Amino acid sequence: MTDFPVVGVIGGGQLARMMQQAAIALGVELKVLSVGPRDSAALVISDVELGEHTDREAVLNFAHECDVVTFDHEHVPAEILNELINAGIRVEPGPQALVHAQDKITMREALTEAGIPCPAWQAVSREVSADEFVAAVDAFGQANGFPVVAKTSRGGYDGRGVWVLADGMQARELANQADLQNNANWLLEQFVPFTQELAAQVARTPSGQVLAYPVVRTVQTDGICTEVVAPAPGLDDETVAQAQSIALKVAQALGVTGMLAVELFDSEQGLLVNELAMRPHNSGHWSIDGAVTSQFENHLRAVLDLPLGATGLRAPVVVMENILGTESTPGYSAYPGVLAQDPRIKLHWYGKEPRAGRKLGHVTAYGEDLDEVVGRARFAAKSIADQ
Ligand SMILES: Nc1ncnc2c1ncn2[C@@H]1O[C@H](COP(=O)(O)OP(=O)(O)OP(=O)(O)O)[C@@H](O)[C@H]1O
Ligand SMILES: [Mg+2]
Repeated sequence: MTDFPVVGVIGGGQLARMMQQAAIALGVELKVLSVGPRDSAALVISDVELGEHTDREAVLNFAHECDVVTFDHEHVPAEILNELINAGIRVEPGPQALVHAQDKITMREALTEAGIPCPAWQAVSREVSADEFVAAVDAFGQANGFPVVAKTSRGGYDGRGVWVLADGMQARELANQADLQNNANWLLEQFVPFTQELAAQVARTPSGQVLAYPVVRTVQTDGICTEVVAPAPGLDDETVAQAQSIALKVAQALGVTGMLAVELFDSEQGLLVNELAMRPHNSGHWSIDGAVTSQFENHLRAVLDLPLGATGLRAPVVVMENILGTESTPGYSAYPGVLAQDPRIKLHWYGKEPRAGRKLGHVTAYGEDLDEVVGRARFAAKSIADQ
């Protein structure tokens, strides 16, 4: 008999897969609720239940076998999570926090209420006619300038569900073609001419211990995160402190448990929050090889209410580069060349079917010199993606 807890993860993507690496080291048992048997995490976790995260029965049955339930993604409906809570099951983060990562309008309302800086924004109902939508975009653009950013409030990822509208004509095209899923509404935002994008991650336990990671620079290409540099190069101490304090404030104000990522715009208006993720996040993959404690380990520690691990860097510069697939990325055949070229590169493969633009894995490089480390990481990622 041992007393190790079972952590249930809803969703079988690469985040659950990388949580398994941390769970192995801690000796904690991970169970996963996965849609398919070949999903990234289902391939590496022995205890897999197949089921949809929207299937109430499937989620309840799964959760009853776990000491605590957490997530690979944000899409479990709040009604189902509330049922779990009512059944006495621990859910971390809880639905009251998670709703702010599920719905961007709810997030904007709460952050505005808490006095946290955001781009100018406005909610527009999904029920409006095309004419009303165009009028709303026009009025918002008059007040805040064009272009106007329109987002689906729910269900978007990797830039899907984000449109930049130059004028009313483009607003009309969007209104005519867009089909908002999952009861989403429209969120209009001021287009922020940012100088760079940053992410501030914190871990928070149910007992209230919080720790911040170094603030990183993220690069999005066509809406998808492609590169992360830790720590964010050239960022002054004051801005670092500000970004961390925004993330800590968000974690506390919303009662987040586990990992929280706050995506930020660094702009002439100062730091503005873009959006939140309440789980390990692409902006923290560098931490597996580059921090004393990875975001995946700290996520597990946090949801288990264990003391958190140190978040400091293991090297002066750490760079993470995503491997984005093409139709034909085979993956492994590039390994001999890439590994021979750079014995210090760290490779992470997610076991997913190659598809154009899909995140298939990432590489991490670390060292002393920013340009040198960035160069090595980009070369390795590109060699694998484009071979
Ligand atoms: N208001 C804005 N002004 C300027 N650029 C923006 C704005 N909102 C979003 N973007 C750009 O689009 C990217 C994707 O937006 P957002 O993070 O809201 O979408 P997402 O699809 O939910 O992304 P994720 O994959 O992080 O969940 C941002 O990282 C940023 O580069
Ligand atoms: Mg984002």
